[in-house]
Amino acid sequence: MGVLIIGSGGREHALAYAFSRSQMAGDVFCTPGNGGIAKLATCLDLDVTDHQTIVDFCWENNVGLVVVGPELPLVDGLVDSLEVEGIKAFGPTKAAAQLEGSKAFTKQLCSKYDIPTAFYEIFEREAPALSYLNECAYPIVIKADGLAAGKGVIIAKDQDEARKATKECFAGRFGEAGTKLVIEECLVGEEASFFVISDGDYAMEFPTAQDHKCAYEGDTGPNTGGMGAYSPAPVMTKDMCQRTMDEIILPTLKGMKAEGMPFKGVLFAGLMITSEGPKLIEYNVRFGDPECQVQMARLRSDLLPVMLASSDGKLERMVNRFDERPAITIVMATKGYPGDYDSGSEIKGLEEAANDPDVMIFHAGTKNEDGRILATGGRVLNITALGDTVSQARDKAYAAIDKIDWPQGFYRKDIGWRAVEREKQST
Ligand code: AMP
Ligand code: GLY
Repeated sequence: MGVLIIGSGGREHALAYAFSRSQMAGDVFCTPGNGGIAKLATCLDLDVTDHQTIVDFCWENNVGLVVVGPELPLVDGLVDSLEVEGIKAFGPTKAAAQLEGSKAFTKQLCSKYDIPTAFYEIFEREAPALSYLNECAYPIVIKADGLAAGKGVIIAKDQDEARKATKECFAGRFGEAGTKLVIEECLVGEEASFFVISDGDYAMEFPTAQDHKCAYEGDTGPNTGGMGAYSPAPVMTKDMCQRTMDEIILPTLKGMKAEGMPFKGVLFAGLMITSEGPKLIEYNVRFGDPECQVQMARLRSDLLPVMLASSDGKLERMVNRFDERPAITIVMATKGYPGDYDSGSEIKGLEEAANDPDVMIFHAGTKNEDGRILATGGRVLNITALGDTVSQARDKAYAAIDKIDWPQGFYRKDIGWRAVEREKQST
């Protein structure tokens, strides 16, 4: 069966890697793809906003499943357009994708179905939002309602900052995404990510992960798409996973079904593990990037039948197997990211770096030009490794990075620090 992956990041390279190990997958296509994906799949430039183009491509190339990596095409209704034409797709419909596309939608669902989350208020006009800020305790979190490429969340330490953020938001800093605001309580605890694949009813647990969102060591610097991750997340004990499933995930799936928009695809819950237990920070309706890279490094069963079963509503009979060993991924980004950066620098030494069978290098912003790998983006490479412990996986990943010759790149040297600390304490 042919598979079409939509996207160009490390997440999509990791998915292409999973399909390259699938018994069931035939031709794998990816649009637009990148320099690493091109080794595993046929990369092409299709206009993803033109749904008919994607439909035609699928019919002409025997594509049996479209796997949508990023959130934009999901929120834009690509899955709906494909399903109307009888083409299977992995991911939620436009209505169900509101779980990521609108923070106000998700908060209201939480209230209606009793799902633990930060206390909040929603505002559509500046004046009531500003007057609400007079009564708040600080710090407080200000969020643009819609998709803002991970930049729509401001943690304001005092009222001045909160007023500034509120005014900027209503002045159009986040465009359409900021016409509504969520102002919410700042939760305290350790963050972790919990994932399930759903078919609208059933939830199949996927491995937990922990991301590192800040650009620099010590969790400092600006927010990024993610500078590294590991899986599993030690804070997500068996008990915490069960509580998350019972208190957050299952009520969400039940609620979405009751609202007439059953959720299919990956439900990625960003959690704060507080002293009272897990609370929902936000939902994403797709795999995480770079979380997907560590999950696919650990996956030992065939991903394609699971994705088809999610689309067909038959997930309950499926099982996934994962390597027991933890995996880590370190993001190498172009110097300057997440601000301005140069494009086009050459990366050398990748083959030697990937020599260890426990090391996988997933590309993000790269292109292959006559056999030379050039950096074309902010986040460029994901150096991923398995090990008996997070510390061992981390040492292998950093040893691989030492073999990469790319002076224009940078990476955080402390990815996995929480897990490594825990491992030190338990020995
Ligand atoms: P989001 O885009 O909603 O995931 O928010 C981005 C980041 O902001 C999260 O990963 C958290 O680190 C932080 N954040 C968001 N909401 C809250 C909250 N209510 N309390 C504390 N931190 C938050
Ligand atoms: N790494 C966070 C995300 O994919 O949203």
